[in-house]
Amino acid sequence: MARVKSVYTCQSCGYQTAKWLGRCPDCSQWNSLVEERIFQERKLSFSVKEVMPPQPISALRAREEERFATGIGELDRVLGGGVVPGSAILIGGDPGIGKSTLLLQAMGSLGERGRKILYVSGEESPRQIRLRGERTGAITDNLLVCSETMIEKIAQTIDSVKPDIVVVDSVQSVYSELLASSPGSVSQVREGAAQLIAQTKGQDIPLFLIGHVTKDGSIAGPRVLEHMVDTVLYFEGEKGHPFRILRSVKNRFGSVNEIGVFEMEGTGLTEVNNPSALFLEERAVDASGSVVVSSIEGTRPILVEIQSLVCPTIFGMPRRTVVGVDQNRVAIILAILEKRAGLTLANHDVFLKVAGGMRVEEPAIDLGIAVSVASNFLDKGVDQKTIVFGEIGLAGELRSVGQAGQRIKEAKMLGFTRCILPKASLKTIQVDKSLDIVGVTTLQEALDVLF
Ligand code: TYD
Ligand code: MG
Repeated sequence: MARVKSVYTCQSCGYQTAKWLGRCPDCSQWNSLVEERIFQERKLSFSVKEVMPPQPISALRAREEERFATGIGELDRVLGGGVVPGSAILIGGDPGIGKSTLLLQAMGSLGERGRKILYVSGEESPRQIRLRGERTGAITDNLLVCSETMIEKIAQTIDSVKPDIVVVDSVQSVYSELLASSPGSVSQVREGAAQLIAQTKGQDIPLFLIGHVTKDGSIAGPRVLEHMVDTVLYFEGEKGHPFRILRSVKNRFGSVNEIGVFEMEGTGLTEVNNPSALFLEERAVDASGSVVVSSIEGTRPILVEIQSLVCPTIFGMPRRTVVGVDQNRVAIILAILEKRAGLTLANHDVFLKVAGGMRVEEPAIDLGIAVSVASNFLDKGVDQKTIVFGEIGLAGELRSVGQAGQRIKEAKMLGFTRCILPKASLKTIQVDKSLDIVGVTTLQEALDVLF
């Protein structure tokens, strides 16, 4: 008879304890510990003699990972050049953002390139998948679809089909009968994923796992899987905007912070090859508070528009509402504007956003934030053909940022004629006579040049 053991697992962070607690000691969530019963048979699955002896690193042979491209350029870019055999890739994102659509399209394209694909869905019936396939053009004989949620049966299917790639949509829907907890709970998600990863790694099959995750982390799962997989991608976008951004947050086989940009249309996702043009498409003409920043996302420059509104505060506490950039970064820059550039913002509400639903985290957008706020505060528009970038220090000094040349090149391509940047960055770029490039050393100097 198998032994039955009880553990209490926090549904928000995965913390486990032998006793029930009202509050998780790890993530401080209240009432998140749920009893889960595990049947265990304790037996070693290998004999101790089989253990591999460690080898000197110098004696090991390195193999450049041979990858295969999915045919969807933006996805390949984020993966670091294609799919690595045997790698486990987790794609997380809000429900309804387009994860299933993205993977079905990618698998359709891979199927057409002659790969055999197993697409296991625990959320949709094969007929629903077929309908989606018709809409997005992912109909090929190499794409095998099945609806299954029990992990042992999925493992069996993988063994008998012997696919080149496996997709499991979603990790929250798979469960094992050996665990007593309900599907979607942390231990089911972790156990299911661990089994799939072990099985596909052993056979050198790449595995795509889809995981639902909400911004506040209220759906259990993907976070506890991040350390188990090789690559973690997040698919994000604002509700109501057609743009979707695929962001790599962990990648054992490529660089992180790489992004891929897509647009959701009636026929599925289409790649956006020139995101800058898209983000600037609907720019208001000569509006104060609007400025374009050249930001580097992963390996490529993307131009984004920062907009702000500065209005007198009616109630005591000034409001600072920020969308698309870090709130703390904006608070610091407002303080610098107040102290180093003499703008009295303390009695003003500030509303700031990045247009188009984009999110930017790079320090180089500092100058854009400052210029945008100053522009609206002074009610003076920034010249339409000017871009700015640079990090701002607390003393109001402008600090150089990387890849200035690339940022300027992108701006030139989109018809910008003037660029305000940190003076120190001038050293790193070649002189381009066709552009008016202005190096400045302080924030005050930048504002003097612009207004
Ligand atoms: P879906 O891939 O089902 O999201 P997820 O798997 O992340 O939960 O995407 C569903 C959304 O995408 C839904 O709101 C409809 C929209 N959509 C389109 O706009 N066009 C399309 O061609 C498809 C297939 C979906
Ligand atoms: Mg889905």
